[in-house]
Amino acid sequence: MKITWILLARLIAVAALTVGLAWPASHPAQAGQRQRIIASLTAEAKALDRSFQAFSADRGRILFSSRPATGKPDTPSCTSCHTADPRNVGQTRAGKEIAPMALSRSPDRYNDMEKVEKWFRRNCKSVLGRACSAVEKGDYLTFMFSQ
Ligand code: HEC
Repeated sequence: MKITWILLARLIAVAALTVGLAWPASHPAQAGQRQRIIASLTAEAKALDRSFQAFSADRGRILFSSRPATGKPDTPSCTSCHTADPRNVGQTRAGKEIAPMALSRSPDRYNDMEKVEKWFRRNCKSVLGRACSAVEKGDYLTFMFSQ
């Protein structure tokens, strides 16, 4: 009898987990994850500059479309792959599709800190020839969350 209860409890736990994982993209856990990424970048920005106030979607837009001319010649801008409108499907240099950067079009994005950091590292290096600062990353994400 006791065993049955344990099995039942396990079954419920597994079912709950499955529902949790299969929940639509707007699930609060994902929004929470995005907030954590922003909070972590805010802490980093403040640690470097005590006068730091808040991230700016406008600055993010400028970063996204800028052509700094300090990176690789075949990737002059973020828009080289992500297109001028972040709501569009982008393309890698090899022609592979990239889902839109705009959160409204790709609601599953920006919920994995490691993935976000990995691509910032790679893409900032290609376009700017250096790592992006915490402020630049936060601005970029704030812009994409607004799109
Ligand atoms: C050479 C093409 C290319 C360029 C240029 C490029 N990206 Fe990307 N970016 C990608 C690819 C490929 C991915 C990963 C595929 C995906 O997430 O759909 C990606 C993913 C990302 C992600 C992760 C999104 C997520 O879902 O977590 C961020 C953030 C990002 N790019 C920011 C930038 C920024 C900022 C710039 C400009 C400084 C930039 N990218 C320029 C190709 C590029």
